[in-house]
Amino acid sequence: MRKSIPAMFDEIARRYDLINDILSFGIHRTWLKKAIRKLHLEDGFRILDLATGTGNFVFEFLRTNHNLDVVGIDLAEKMLEIAKERNFKQFNNKAKFLIGDATRIPFEDNAFDVVSISYGIRNVQDIKKCLFEIHRVLKPNGQLVIVEFGKPRTWFLPIYKAYQKIFISFLAGVISRNRSAYRYFVNSVNKFPYGKEFLNLMKELNLFHSLLFYSLNFGVAYIYIGKARK
Ligand SMILES: C[S@@+](CC[C@H](N)C(=O)[O-])C[C@H]1O[C@@H](n2cnc3c(N)ncnc32)[C@H](O)[C@@H]1O
Repeated sequence: MRKSIPAMFDEIARRYDLINDILSFGIHRTWLKKAIRKLHLEDGFRILDLATGTGNFVFEFLRTNHNLDVVGIDLAEKMLEIAKERNFKQFNNKAKFLIGDATRIPFEDNAFDVVSISYGIRNVQDIKKCLFEIHRVLKPNGQLVIVEFGKPRTWFLPIYKAYQKIFISFLAGVISRNRSAYRYFVNSVNKFPYGKEFLNLMKELNLFHSLLFYSLNFGVAYIYIGKARK
């Protein structure tokens, strides 16, 4: 039987951050910082990070403003173990982490000022259900921010394809000792709707207003933002 996606992330958990830093030369972190700069944040805001993994987006929020109340949820226990270790060592346990499904969010309605998800939405089995859940737990006009990979449309596409083949499918497969996880990574990125197409999917649901997207590094990744319509 095919492994679940969180189970696959559990297998690569200990090497996940190292591999990301090698593969992206650290750029994936600058994209998170950029995404946070698109938001309006105030001291005391409650933020929920879905598919938080090792907590990258959570910690970027706390580096921006230590007075935020941030919680991360994920289904992969071993990814969360690392998030908790980092939280203890570097952030004095300021954030909270718990097991939770992005399609059945374990929080009450209207609970958060911001819901975020980085490099996670393409891994969620039922994207529409996840967007309905995000809308449910956001306060009226609460902000949604999604960072996800896309595909460059220009002259950069052949270079990116070569990079995917050599660095991601091969190199990351070797370092992680899990080639199938990184083959999955490439397939999931190539299949996922991005840019206008993903924005239209969100518009069709009519759950958010002020929807915008920003392309990063020739379209290798995208930031999507919006506010809950209630
Ligand atoms: C590529 S990682 C992203 C981790 C982190 N957000 C980051 O920026 O590095 C994708 C994560 O999505 C999680 N995931 C997949 N489906 C999920 C779901 N339905 N609910 C919660 N987490 C999920 C996986 O367990 C994995 O940790």
